[in-house]
Formats: sequence, C-alpha cells, structure tokens
Amino acid sequence: MAEDNFTVTPWEVSGNVDYGRLVKKFGTEAITDKLYDRIKKYTKDLHFLLRRRIFFSHRDLNWVFDEYDKGNRFYLYTGRGPSGHTHLGHIVPWMLTKYLQEKFDAKLWFQMTDDEKFFFNPGLSIDECSRFAYENALDVIALGFDRKKTHIFTDFDYAKTMYREAAKVAKKLTFSTTKATFGFSNETNVGSIFYTSMQSVPAFLESVKAGKNIPCLIPHAIDQDPHFRVCRDIMPRLGYYKPAAIHCRFMPGLGEGGKMSASQPNTCIFTTDSPKDAENKIIRAFTGGRATIKEQKEKGGNPDICPVFQYWAMMFEQDDRKLQEIRRKCLAGELTCGDDKRMLAEKAMAFLVSHQEKREKARDKLKDYIVKD
Ligand code: TRP
Repeated sequence: MAEDNFTVTPWEVSGNVDYGRLVKKFGTEAITDKLYDRIKKYTKDLHFLLRRRIFFSHRDLNWVFDEYDKGNRFYLYTGRGPSGHTHLGHIVPWMLTKYLQEKFDAKLWFQMTDDEKFFFNPGLSIDECSRFAYENALDVIALGFDRKKTHIFTDFDYAKTMYREAAKVAKKLTFSTTKATFGFSNETNVGSIFYTSMQSVPAFLESVKAGKNIPCLIPHAIDQDPHFRVCRDIMPRLGYYKPAAIHCRFMPGLGEGGKMSASQPNTCIFTTDSPKDAENKIIRAFTGGRATIKEQKEKGGNPDICPVFQYWAMMFEQDDRKLQEIRRKCLAGELTCGDDKRMLAEKAMAFLVSHQEKREKARDKLKDYIVKD
C-alpha cells in the first residue's frame, strides 16, 4: 500500500491531508448526501459548514437522530486544549456547535483541558495552561452560546467531579491500547497516558448527572478522533452509550500547506491579534495565484490550493452565490490576489473588532458559564 504523505494525530497535522483516505484510515464514515438531507429535515436550512462539506465525516450520527426521533434528545460536548490564545481555526467547529445548540435546543459541555496541555507541552506550566483556559473561554462566550445551556469547565478546576469519572475510564484503559492508538512508549509520561480518560468524561457526564443515559454528540476537528475511538470502546463497558461525533477539516495556515497552527504565528490569526496585525498577515499570505499579474489575467488562479479562498469558504463568506462569484473571478483571472487579500483583510478586521468587543464583555459573564467544584 502506498505510504500516505500526510500525518494526522491529536498532536500533529502535516502534509497534504487526503480526507477521503483519512476516513478509511480512522474508520469513520463519510457524511452522505442522504445524511445531509436528514440533518436538513431538522434544521430547515443547512449550515454553510455542512453545505460545503467542511464537516464531512461522522460516527453514529444516524443513531443520534434515530434516538431524537424517539424523543431521546442528545446533548453536545466539545472542547479546547488551552496551550495559547484561540485562533480562527479553533472557531470553525465551535460555530457548528453553536448552530446545533440553537437548532436542537441542546445542552453543551465545553471542556478546557489545562491538564492535557500541561502533560503534553514540556514548556508550559499549570498556571499558564489554566490562564489560557479562561482566556479561551472568553472566545467561546463571545460567540454567543446559550448562557443557560452551556457549561464550560477546566479539568483542574472541576477536578473533583472529573477525577471520579475519569478513574472509571482509566480502569478499563490499558497502556497497550494507548501505545497502539497514540504511539506512546515507555518514555511517555504517565499523565499523557492517563489523559484520554479525562477527555472521555464529558461524553457521559450528562448521563451521570441525570441518572439515566442521554445520547451525546461531539462536534470536533478530525484529529481528535483517536481519543474518541478509545472512549467509544470503553463506554458500553461502563454501561453508557457510545458518543456520536461529527468531524471537520482543518483550516489552513496562511502559508503554503499545513493547518493553521499557533506554533507558526505569522501564518495564524489569533482572536487577540490587533486588526492591523491580522491585515498584515493576510496581505503576506501564500495564494493560488500566478507569478505575474499578466499571467494571472491570462490563466487565472487556483482557488483549490489557496488559503485565502479557503478562509472565504470556511468563515468569511457564508453566501454561496457570493462565494461562487469569488471562485469564478479567480479562475477567470478577473480577480488579482492582491485585491482578493485586501477584501478578505477587510472582512477579517471587521470580525476581529466586533469579536474583541464581545470578548471583553464576556469577562463579566464568565461566572454564568463556568462550572467548578
Ligand atoms: N484535546 C483537545 C485539544 O487539544 C481538547 C478537547 C478536549 C476537545 N475535549 C474535546 C476537542 C472534545 C474537541 C472535542 O484541542
């Protein structure tokens, strides 16, 4: 079998990801047209991240809807590893989560894994991870999640509740499974080996609280699937449902290839960047354009390899007709990369100004969302 020239693990995403192959490799299911239609039956309009197949893969989504049809409503669970400030790529799955919360009137558990980032990053202290957890929570709140239906917590500050449940998972999780799933070795610290137990807890926490089984749906970027594969294997052995999941692609960085990553700040837009900084990053972005304007006008650009076009598609242009028009003009050589980038920079700056205002206001609302022991 040919070697893949890409890597996707919870810690590394590199190369040119072939999402079709990834579905096979991870053993998830592609979302079929029929399943998109089924979602649309409940939601009426289909969110642009679904219409555009940015969310493209799932586990047990049909089951969640079958249960829903029987009156057994699901709750949502997602999370964030707080190793730094939030960037635009993180927001993509949160946008769909918010939409699902609205459409299905669903409760949401949002996990901030300050422990995970402490275990996995040699350079980060517990205090730094915890600080970022609360900074990242401001971004979540700024997106407008329902205050009455959303619980945000950090693993350390909700440890009394979390540890008790994580222990039940940990008792069923062997070192050999974590080795096979994540490539761990004898040199891996035992916190990292334990960690999947913590990420599993919110997948059944609502059932623990309710004293009866409640289906759980987890929207997340596909790199987290290995954790949930392990979690799903263990859940029935503890008497709980396996959580369902819906998976999205990665937002590319502004450079050539690779996902948006905080470790490359020049090609990554943080929600805390000044609008001016974001503009500069976008203006310097790699594009699918030609070497000269003359050539661009003759042959057109290539939106399929262009991060600027991806940012329109994944975030900044939600109107399909307008997106098609950008694509058409780019292919026809009518739109230069310079103009395209300036247009995108305007949109991104406007988003940041408004988001940052809401983000500051969120400081006073933190107490309404955060749960602690
Ligand atoms: N491990 C995730 C990360 O590093 C954080 C996380 C915890 C998460 N629980 C989750 C992400 C559930 C998605 C869904 O970012």
